[in-house]
Amino acid sequence: MERDKAKLILDKDYQISKIDNRIFGSFVEHLGRCVYGGVYDPSHPSADEEGFRQDVIDMVNELNVPMIRLPGGNFVSTYIWEDGVGPREKRPRKPDLAWKSIETNEIGTNELMSWLKKVNAEAMMTVNIGTRGILDALNLLDYCNRSEGTFYSDLRRAHGFKDPYKIKTWAVGNELDGVWQVGQKTPMEYARIARETAKAMKRQDNTIEIVAAASAGMESDTFGEWEQTVLQEGYEFIDYLSLHQYYLNKEKDTPNFLAKTLEFDDYIKSIGSLIDYMKIKNKSKRDIHISLDEWNVWYHNRDKDNQSVKERQEPWPIAPAILEEPYNFEDALVTGAMLIALLRNSDRVKIAAFAQLVNVLAPIMTETGGGIWKQSIFYPIYYSSRYGRGTALQPIIKSPKYDSKDFTDVPFIDAVAVLNEKENEISIFCINKSTEEDILLNCDFKSFGEFEIIEHIALENKDCYAVNTLYAPTKVTPIKKTIPNYTAMDLNFSLGKLSWNMIRLKIK
Ligand code: AHR
Repeated sequence: MERDKAKLILDKDYQISKIDNRIFGSFVEHLGRCVYGGVYDPSHPSADEEGFRQDVIDMVNELNVPMIRLPGGNFVSTYIWEDGVGPREKRPRKPDLAWKSIETNEIGTNELMSWLKKVNAEAMMTVNIGTRGILDALNLLDYCNRSEGTFYSDLRRAHGFKDPYKIKTWAVGNELDGVWQVGQKTPMEYARIARETAKAMKRQDNTIEIVAAASAGMESDTFGEWEQTVLQEGYEFIDYLSLHQYYLNKEKDTPNFLAKTLEFDDYIKSIGSLIDYMKIKNKSKRDIHISLDEWNVWYHNRDKDNQSVKERQEPWPIAPAILEEPYNFEDALVTGAMLIALLRNSDRVKIAAFAQLVNVLAPIMTETGGGIWKQSIFYPIYYSSRYGRGTALQPIIKSPKYDSKDFTDVPFIDAVAVLNEKENEISIFCINKSTEEDILLNCDFKSFGEFEIIEHIALENKDCYAVNTLYAPTKVTPIKKTIPNYTAMDLNFSLGKLSWNMIRLKIK
């Protein structure tokens, strides 16, 4: 096959799945400056009456994030939720062992739920079953979801929040296989407590859904055994299995970095197969889906941050600037490619969360008390979330391929398409991973009948390492491409070398 030509065939009847909007979710952890100094910054000129930055709220609303995972992450492993509710002046300061910081508890469950309303998102609430346990999960559930008439629901009302939050999605613990967790568990220890917590929580509120933790990643010592044990013990009580995946490019090997999304795709498919196997083994009629509730690129400052947390002496700081990854252009390509994989696996993945949202591993960066800017990764997330809702279509792609350090036969072109039935529009998200060639993508969209091209947006850059900053916020920014002359029988798009693209069509 010629190195500079590829083919994409779409048919509106080749459908993968209806996309669950929660696939465009995100994550806000009490970590670094995500909450304090990011979301919440009472002395900022744009702060509202509750101390939340309006400019952050506006930018989160641009991303149209339907679900946000709270309040951690690793933070949850020593979190006592009761510390963060009630009169602020009485809230205790506590050490957060995960990030060796001081948690002031100025922001707790009620404040975060109020912020979620402002950004039009529902919560995925994570409970601490590592160091607390079943009763703690039940108490928090009662505090949040029951109208009134019990100690915890009346306590919420006494705190000034009359209406229950009716949070639907609850995660039982986070990455409890990890040696870095306070309260680390063996597969069976976790499987048992996750199952019993899920069972009790559902007995208390039968409207909720439960997300159980899979391994922190494929590299975990107990990967495989962990997932199997959790599914074996808890199949009837769990609704989603939580996967996490971050990619690295320490070697600065762009082709290999971009190829890693093949592994991402495989990861999702293998867990999907394991779920199917466990369904048969448990003689179950229920389906369990995937919640890929931490995904992103994470490596620029990772070693430095780990070291600084490890070596930290007293006094521990409040909201230190950690995990503030400066995302470059190639990171945006990987983010775009991970989104393509998520959408293509939308039959399995019903919830996902790009990790995280503000300042920490984030598309949105702020200066505490100062400006705000969009990182490179903001753009693929923005366009996918805005225009990737509907039904995922299965693309047939014929692409030239390359070999990289760890992968063979990597297609240069990767793509997915989404049919938006309401608007009668199709969005095609595609990436050209070639570092050398623009590729002419010949498209066969005959099955759509007559259509018109609305726009072709691209992220392209000569510099893989270009980074947006407060003072140079548009180094990586999308461009509008010229729409080619076309007919339904002759339609070709030029995809720039190393580019992420969105093409939108209106069906007539
Ligand atoms: O997102 C940062 C951290 O990564 C989370 O706290 C943890 O769950 C994961 O290891």
